[in-house]
Amino acid sequence: MTRTSRIQGLRDLSFAARREAVARSAELDLDRLAAFDPAHGLGLDLANQMIENVVGILGVPLGVATNVVVNGREILVPMATEEASVVAAASNAAKIARARGGFTTSSSSPLMQAQVQILGVPDPEAGRVRLLEARDELVDLANAQDPRLVELDGGVRDVAVRLVPTRTGVHVVAHLQVDVRDAMGANAVNTMAEAVAARAGEIAGGRTLMRILTNKADLRLTRARAVFPAEALGGAQVVADVVHAAALAEADPYRAATHNKGILNGVSAVVLATGNDTRAVEAGAHSHAVAPDGRYTSLSRFEQDADGDLVGTLELPMPVGLVGGATTVHPTARAAVELLGPRSASELAEIVVAVGLAQNLGALRALATEGIQRGHMSLHARNVASTVGATADEVPHVVARLVADGRVRADHAEQILADLRAQG
Ligand code: MEV
Repeated sequence: MTRTSRIQGLRDLSFAARREAVARSAELDLDRLAAFDPAHGLGLDLANQMIENVVGILGVPLGVATNVVVNGREILVPMATEEASVVAAASNAAKIARARGGFTTSSSSPLMQAQVQILGVPDPEAGRVRLLEARDELVDLANAQDPRLVELDGGVRDVAVRLVPTRTGVHVVAHLQVDVRDAMGANAVNTMAEAVAARAGEIAGGRTLMRILTNKADLRLTRARAVFPAEALGGAQVVADVVHAAALAEADPYRAATHNKGILNGVSAVVLATGNDTRAVEAGAHSHAVAPDGRYTSLSRFEQDADGDLVGTLELPMPVGLVGGATTVHPTARAAVELLGPRSASELAEIVVAVGLAQNLGALRALATEGIQRGHMSLHARNVASTVGATADEVPHVVARLVADGRVRADHAEQILADLRAQG
């Protein structure tokens, strides 16, 4: 069988059969996905090495989004999320995009930046230029901290210096721009910033204070683009209405926050599943959503193309890595990366952004048509049914009644369950 992300009826299978189907479709040995079973996932001993004062392990559902094609490659996408409908919506939107070849993506070089804050420089303009004159010295000093990265063709690419007026005076802020290759890069750039800080302060003629990366990773950008055929979306009116919906998100920060949250539903689920830093990615995304005029706006754009279809684009900073951190240590994250099979951190970043775009389209299409509650309700009903103690056999009956009655509430679920049990 050739590799495919199109698996029909995945949701109707048992857990074991789902894993088998996913492994088969990804052309992977089933053993490689063993850690998807909680029994082989993160144990307490490993958890205890990851953070402090460990008292337990919090489980989060891990689903697989189907139908995703990125740059012609079929990809089954692991998504860790507590929110119902997210995996289904991403899979549905990816299915619509498939008809036009799926998602096309691109990335900048994986450049992260660290900031060195220098205070009390009497002549900040000249201080800035002195630092730029010393570029080569600072680059060498920083690169000496990470010979392995330099060997891999990474390392410092440039030094930039900004003058930032603050309420405590003008701060001279030197930026190290570092190609971090397949790492997320926080450790690499923080180490470099600490190493050059004293010398940078000396050169600028001030006192160095903070040395830390910036999560506004605007030199590490990833883009995704997809065409969603009008016919598959439900017609020309749906295309027009999705464009109207997206236009409000561009213009109105109140809507933009929700629109971007919908994008992050997909983004963070893949980032978490692969053991990457969701907060770094989310901070980067929100900082990227600030337009040059200071307005908070939407991260994606939707237009009607010349054929009348919907074309969506999304650009995000995407500081994710394949080496280091939980991605290397957490067994389930490692299995998730195996399933995705990215050849570089940039490729992982591109899959993440493609899923963000799919998620966004899924939400907008629902909002521009029937609304999201109907889809949400049956999934929510499953949660409610489980909460009141329905067994796996009873859940479908309870859900069907809750939805049919239009009252998805715990008290009603209890009543339905009691009736069902009374009927034997
Ligand atoms: C819910 O988690 C996400 C949505 O609110 C996103 C959106 O409104 O675009 C549905």
